[in-house]
Amino acid sequence: MAELQTLSDTAQVVIDPVAEADLAWIEALDAQITGRPKPDYWRRLFEGARSEPGRSFFLVARNGSGRVGFIAGEIRAWEFGSEPCGWIFAIGVDPDNRLRSVGTQLFDAVCDRFRQAGVTKVRTMIAREAQLILSFFRAHGMMAGPFVELEKDLDE
Ligand SMILES: CC(C)(COP(=O)(O)OP(=O)(O)OC[C@H]1O[C@@H](n2cnc3c(N)ncnc32)[C@H](O)[C@@H]1OP(=O)(O)O)[C@@H](O)C(=O)NCCC(=O)NCCS
Repeated sequence: MAELQTLSDTAQVVIDPVAEADLAWIEALDAQITGRPKPDYWRRLFEGARSEPGRSFFLVARNGSGRVGFIAGEIRAWEFGSEPCGWIFAIGVDPDNRLRSVGTQLFDAVCDRFRQAGVTKVRTMIAREAQLILSFFRAHGMMAGPFVELEKDLDE
C-alpha cells in the first residue's frame, strides 16, 4: 500500500527584496515551472521594484541552504475603476521545498507590504486550469472578485 505523504514542518525562511544576483535563479525556476524562459520580464520586475520600492515588490525566500522561492506584486490604482489594491503577478517555490509553507510566508510578506502601503485588498489572475496555484490562493481566502476579464483575438 502506498504510504501517505506526511507534510513536513514549516520551513524557516528569510524573505528579502530580490537582488540582481537572485535573477538567474528566479529565471531558471520560472522556466522550470512554466516551460518558458523570460529573462527580460524578470529583469523588468527587478528594475521596477528597485525604482519604486513602496509600490512594487519582488521578494525572494532563503533557507539555510539557499533560495527556495519568490513572489512579485505591485500596487495599482484606479485601473478600470478599481480602487488602489495589491496585485500579485507571480509566485514560485522550488519543487523540493513545497508544502512547507514557503509560499504562504511569501504571500504573507507581500500582503504585509501592501498593507503598510495603505491598501486593503489583494488581487491576482490565474488560468482556470491551473489547479495548484488556484488551490494555493483559495487556501489563503482569495475568491472570485467583481471584475470580468474580456479578450478577443486581434487577427479577426
Ligand atoms: C503554489 C505554490 C507557490 C505553493 O507553494 P508552497 O510553499 O508549496 O505552499 P504552502 O506550503 O504555503 O501551501 C499553502 C496551502 O496551499 C495549498 N496547496 C499548496 N500546494 C498544494 C497542492 N500541491 N495541492 C493542493 N493544495 C495545495 C494548501 O491548502 C496549503 O495548505 P496546507 O499545506 O495547510 O494544506 C507552489 O506549489 C508553486 O510554486 N507552484 C507553481 C506555481 C506556478 O505555477 N507559478 C506560475 C504562475 S505565477
